[in-house]
Amino acid sequence: MSESSAAPATEHNKTPEILSLIGDTPLVEVTQFDTGQCQLFLKLENQNPGGSIKDRIALSMIEAAEADGKLQPGGTVIEATAGNTGLGLALVAGAKGYRVLLVIPDKMSQEKISHVRALGAEVRIARSDVTRGHPEYYQDVAARLAEQIPGSFYVNQFGNPANPLAHERTTGPEIWEQMRHDVDAVVVGVGSGGTLTGLGRFFNRVKPRRGIEMVLADPTGSILYEYVKTGQLVESGSWAVEGIGEDFIPDIADMSLVTEAYEIDDVDSFAAARELLHKEGIFGGSSTGTLLAGALRYCREQTKPKRVVTLVPDTGNKYLSKMYDNFWMAEQGFIHRPPHGDLSDLISHRYEAGEVITVGPDDSLLTAFKRMRDSDVSQLPVVDKSGRSIGIIDESDLLVKVHREPSRFNDPVSTAMTDQLETLPPDAKIADLLGVFDRGRVAIVMEDNKFLGLITRSDLLSYLRLNMPKSSTPPEREFV
Ligand SMILES: Cc1ncc(COP(=O)(O)O)c(C=O)c1O
Repeated sequence: MSESSAAPATEHNKTPEILSLIGDTPLVEVTQFDTGQCQLFLKLENQNPGGSIKDRIALSMIEAAEADGKLQPGGTVIEATAGNTGLGLALVAGAKGYRVLLVIPDKMSQEKISHVRALGAEVRIARSDVTRGHPEYYQDVAARLAEQIPGSFYVNQFGNPANPLAHERTTGPEIWEQMRHDVDAVVVGVGSGGTLTGLGRFFNRVKPRRGIEMVLADPTGSILYEYVKTGQLVESGSWAVEGIGEDFIPDIADMSLVTEAYEIDDVDSFAAARELLHKEGIFGGSSTGTLLAGALRYCREQTKPKRVVTLVPDTGNKYLSKMYDNFWMAEQGFIHRPPHGDLSDLISHRYEAGEVITVGPDDSLLTAFKRMRDSDVSQLPVVDKSGRSIGIIDESDLLVKVHREPSRFNDPVSTAMTDQLETLPPDAKIADLLGVFDRGRVAIVMEDNKFLGLITRSDLLSYLRLNMPKSSTPPEREFV
């Protein structure tokens, strides 16, 4: 930063300018999909500074708390969240100089926790295997902390009227202007219900008597679709799309605003989001796929031309190691490779497809170690120049070699690798695998002389989990 652009000390109590970039997001038309009779537009909420639509509600909820005196200078902002709301609050409240304390369920990814910590938020981990009413449930933990910490403000996005108000006052009017006052339907998802309630109220005002349809796109497993269709509250299932879908009706969610609903499963959601990136270059999160798939279904059912809007609620960055990663997709059962009915089905990374990280016998031990760290594995097959698998090297082999003399990191891999390989043919049995694992090894699958890939304990566990009967899979909660 140049001297002239550095803020003088006297301006330190000014709010950082980044907050003025929240909202006013672009709107683009979808041109590469079959939208039937409709024109479909996307509001790019992924372009908010914190990467999601939740920046808007973070700003609105913090400003409302300041205005009514619930949040004073030096105060602490507390929220139970693992998702985008946490990022938005960490950004907004952090920029305004408040302490930010987030209660995060323990199933959330390290990336998300690291992200809010990097923004300066403090994190308390709570249990994700308990439900509301349990003292260790993340929202109860947050509420209790708010009672204990003087000067704290519990945001509670699920019951905070400033959440829908943000959409009623900003997102809705922006869409209305960008669409030149010509909108027939808006497709939304529900996490806290803020988007639905805020947009629904706004569009009911500009075109009363449900002149603009509010269409819900809900993940299969969430209870909201069924509630809209039948008025029944059913048992929830589980879904992998993040940020939308619920197992209860949030206080601020006015479900009576919904005029039509679609249920979209994870497979269709992920496929739609990936296709959106390929075809239109728009990098959205998993819920973007749900909304797009719902909007396309709605569009294709229409018999008259309509102008339809949906959202790209958050950026795809957070999903690079999930929905955008083919190995993760296969491991979770969202991409199906044609099964061979043998051990080769358990190989997550196939050598022939260039998916296996390997080292050469002449590479240094340091190279092997760095490669293990970078790809988060604890062993590597050693493959010679002709593509033959001639050994395996793991962390213990490295330790034996370097623990007395770290300069040995410069020695070649061939001096430390194990060349007594535990190879199995593809038609071996799972019991054979267990034998290999019992001897502390990983299995190397070879067909004749061809190296197919490795099978680790973790590969076997993933395979077994994937083949667990659906009926015995416990539902998982969604955390927004
Ligand atoms: C990732 C994500 N978070 C949050 C929301 C909005 O949820 P709500 O305003 O209901 O909390 C959406 C909506 O589509 C979403 O996709």
